[in-house]
Amino acid sequence: MNNIKILNDSFPRTIDVLNSSPVYDPKIRKEKINLLKKLLLEKDAKIIAHYYTHEDIQEVAEITGGNVSDSLEMAKFGANQSSKMLIVAGVRFMGETAKILNPEKKILMPTLEAECSLDINCPAPNLLEFCKKHPDRQIVVYANTSAEVKAMADWVVTSSIAVKVIEYLKEKNIKIIWAPDKHLGNYINQKTKADMKIWNASCIVHEEFKAKSLIKLMKENRDAAVLVHPESNLDVIKLADVVGSTSQLIKACENLPNKKFIVATDNRIFYKMRQAAPKKILIEAPTGGEGATCISCAHCPWMAMNNLDNLIDTLTHEKNEIKINEGIRKKAFISTNRMINFAKNL
Ligand code: 13P
Ligand code: SF4
Repeated sequence: MNNIKILNDSFPRTIDVLNSSPVYDPKIRKEKINLLKKLLLEKDAKIIAHYYTHEDIQEVAEITGGNVSDSLEMAKFGANQSSKMLIVAGVRFMGETAKILNPEKKILMPTLEAECSLDINCPAPNLLEFCKKHPDRQIVVYANTSAEVKAMADWVVTSSIAVKVIEYLKEKNIKIIWAPDKHLGNYINQKTKADMKIWNASCIVHEEFKAKSLIKLMKENRDAAVLVHPESNLDVIKLADVVGSTSQLIKACENLPNKKFIVATDNRIFYKMRQAAPKKILIEAPTGGEGATCISCAHCPWMAMNNLDNLIDTLTHEKNEIKINEGIRKKAFISTNRMINFAKNL
């Protein structure tokens, strides 16, 4: 198994990012939102935001005809838009996916510094080296990867359809290289028993959820259903009532009869969960560290870099454009579009 482990210390700490994030006075917040409405109309632009971004961003996306969703729906929404410009509020791989699927559109991001630990820990040259050792296998990569990695892959998947794609490949007796998330890979492997060589990277946010403290919390809240994103450790996943993508977890919160939920994913998802199920009680799953000692504190530091100020700045100056070499984009389009087409038939 390959391991390009970059020390967690090199990642931004959520606590630092949040401490430097702007907090707006309600009147100023309203002015900023009004300015954004005007700019979006003028520029013929739509916002595509992930559930982990600040609720300010999610709110603007919603009220201006944009989209707030999981990575698969974000990709699908972009491809169905007639607007000339898309502003992707999330992390870089989400902006790149939008560009891969919509080369004719201008794709901007509030910041180009919003990374993902999975993407960082799966550089294309290293993956290529690994794949060369297993030429008999198809390469399936998680959407949380660079355009270069997607260009190398046979399939791109997101957490909402990963199990289904691997089941489909297993039925055809296809052997698989899975990259980069080892936890999601282990979960899929356990569910499908497919023949998989699994890359060794992880999400710094979901890796912090711990089974021992989760069990304690479950004992204190026996009536709560446990919702877990599959980027978490397998021992946390095993405790879940529902394992799924962010959209699937929101649906579970809405549809399950429980009044209480323990949620093991980025806590910004609570904004949408509260909209979908206003009467339900949401409890954050415990992370390894406590208070200022935790690295991610159940919140992605890169997602937290998006705010109303950098959104306005990006739109005003049309900056932070996503650009991808056309040869790479064309190759990445094949594996990414395969995912979109597969999802259409589900
Ligand atoms: P979803 O596709 O479930 O939204 O996941 C994206 C992600 O980065 C979760 O950490
Ligand atoms: Fe990447 Fe984890 Fe952040 Fe999702 S939450 S973008 S997987 S670092």
